[in-house]
Amino acid sequence: MKMTRRGFVGTVGLGSAAGLLSSAGFTSRHANAASSYEDEKVYDGGIMQLNQNESARGPGPKTMEAIHSHVTKRVGRGYPPDHVNELVATLADSYGIITDNVILATGSGPLLRGAVRAFCTASKPLVSAGPTYATCDQVAKQIGAGLRNVQVDSAGSINIDGMATAATGAGLVYFCNPNNPTGTVHSASVVEAFIRRVQRESPNTKMLIDEAYINYAADDVMQTALPLAMEFENVFITRSFSKAHGMAGLRVGYAMGQEQTLDAVRGAWGMGDVNMLSAIAAITAFNDKEHIDWERQENAEIRAFVVAAFNDMGFEVADSHTNHIFVNLRRPAKVFRDACLEHKILVGRDFPPLHNTHCRISMGSREEMHKAVEVFRKVLA
Ligand SMILES: Cc1ncc(COP(=O)(O)O)c(C=O)c1O
Repeated sequence: MKMTRRGFVGTVGLGSAAGLLSSAGFTSRHANAASSYEDEKVYDGGIMQLNQNESARGPGPKTMEAIHSHVTKRVGRGYPPDHVNELVATLADSYGIITDNVILATGSGPLLRGAVRAFCTASKPLVSAGPTYATCDQVAKQIGAGLRNVQVDSAGSINIDGMATAATGAGLVYFCNPNNPTGTVHSASVVEAFIRRVQRESPNTKMLIDEAYINYAADDVMQTALPLAMEFENVFITRSFSKAHGMAGLRVGYAMGQEQTLDAVRGAWGMGDVNMLSAIAAITAFNDKEHIDWERQENAEIRAFVVAAFNDMGFEVADSHTNHIFVNLRRPAKVFRDACLEHKILVGRDFPPLHNTHCRISMGSREEMHKAVEVFRKVLA
C-alpha cells in the first residue's frame, strides 16, 4: 500500500500538524459551537467511538437552528409531513434534474437493500468489492442471490477491471466511491470508462454508485456519476446525510436516477417516511455550502494528522478521501481493537478479507484524535 503524507502534513510536517490540532490552533469560525457540543458528547458511554464513520461534529449551526425553530405543535400534522416534498425539489433543482429522478429514504441503507432485492437473484448475482460497505453483500446472502466479490488491489483501491469482468451477466454492481472502508476514490474519467464498459458488455446489469462520502472528497479527485445515471437507465446514485452533513441520527438518504429504476428499488423494500424535522434539517444542511466546506477541511486536517502519526510509526495507510482511514497494522484488527478498548477507544470491526492485517479507524474530533493517537502509539509500541 501507498505511504500517504498528503495535504498540509505533506507541506508543513508532522510537528506542525500536531500543533494545528492543539486548542491554540483551533481558530475556525466554528470553534465555539464545536467545542461546546464536543464537551457534551466526546465519548458515548465512556467509550470513544471511532468505529462507525459518523460525523464527530454533528450538524452545522444553521441546521441545529432550523431543527430547534421547527419544534412546534405543527409536528402534530404529518400526512404528508411539511418540507418533505420541498427537500426532493431542493435536491432536484440543485442537480438540474426533475423530482421524478429523486427518491428519499430513511438513510441510504434502505436504498441499498431495495436495490439488491430488486435486481439480484440466484442467477443474477451481485458484484461488489472486498472489502466494501457490507449491506448489499448481506442482503444478497439473505435472499440467496449469487455474490461475486472482487478483492481491492494492494493500494486498497477497488479493482475496476476485475469488477467490470465480474459484471458480465450480473444483476447489480455495487460500486462505493469513495470506498468504505479503504477511503480510496476513482476519478470521473475512470468511473465513466467503467460504467460504459459494463453497459456495453452486460447491458442488463444495473449499477449502484454509492456516493455517501462524496462531500469529504475534493472536486479534483472525484466527481459524481450523476450524468451517467441520467444517460443510462441502469445506473443510479445513492447519497447520505449521515456523513459530512452530520445527521446520522436523523436518517435521511436519497437516490438519483431514472424513474423506472428508482421505482423498482422503492417497490422492492420499504424506504420509510422522512419526517418533517429531518426534512427541514436536510434542506438547511444541503444549502449550507459554507459549513460543508468547513467540515471537509476540518476532517482533512484531522485525517492528515492521524495518517502522519501512523506513517511516523511505520504503518501504511490507504489514500483516504473520507472520514475514516484503513491502516495496514500487519496484525489482526481484533488484536488492535481489543488493545484500544482497554483504553476506552473503539475502532472499526473486521473487514474480511483484510481483517488479519488492516483496521478501519473513523476520524473523531480534533480533541478525540489527539487522545486516540497517544493511545495508538502506546498499543503499537
Ligand atoms: C458507503 C456507505 N453507504 C451507505 C451507508 C448507510 O448510511 P445511512 O443509512 O446512514 O445513509 C453507509 C454507512 O456507514 C456507508 O458507509
